[in-house]
Amino acid sequence: MSDALNYLVKTRPEAMGAYFKFLKGAGTHLDPKTRNLISVITKVHAQTENGLRQYLTRALREGATADEILDALLMAFPALGLAKIVWAVDVILGMDLPQFRLDREAVAPCWHDVAPVSALKAGKTTYVDCDGRNLFVYRKGATIKVYDSRCPHQVTNIPHLALAGTTLTCPKHEWAFDLESGRCIAKGDRPLTEFPHKVEQRRLLAFW
Ligand code: FES
Repeated sequence: MSDALNYLVKTRPEAMGAYFKFLKGAGTHLDPKTRNLISVITKVHAQTENGLRQYLTRALREGATADEILDALLMAFPALGLAKIVWAVDVILGMDLPQFRLDREAVAPCWHDVAPVSALKAGKTTYVDCDGRNLFVYRKGATIKVYDSRCPHQVTNIPHLALAGTTLTCPKHEWAFDLESGRCIAKGDRPLTEFPHKVEQRRLLAFW
């Protein structure tokens, strides 16, 4: 939520509670993907970038494809108009989501050579730039975890400086994550994205 909404929730809890209850109840008969696609359209209509990023991420997580999202935007043309659709596509392209790349067939998920295992210090998290993606790689004993640096909230690329011990805190809205588990431990409610990995010939490979 934005700071302004948080403020209103604290200063007008009854009114805001009723408002959120209404919103929740209004979508009872819709499946989560449809609910989130409609929220994407409302955020584009209001041109709230953070909201668009948030509900786009949720729609994708609920199984919406890039084509479905583009269809939803174009279907809403009579309400949105071309300028808002172009604005939304600009925001989406800025998020650098592989699903929206023009060459998305050419960038099908595959294994990436991340680093030699010897470069990953035991009990530490290593920040790696690999094939255009930033990763936080946590290693403890035989356990290795490879996390996407992009925040599950609004896809902010969390910088290396946001790391303190085993806690990673996104600078945008301060969701904090425990790198031993990937769990969100403050503010938010979703874990970091963890990529499958394997070790071959003493090199760490990750799949995305
Ligand atoms: S983008 Fe909101 S906490 Fe990371």
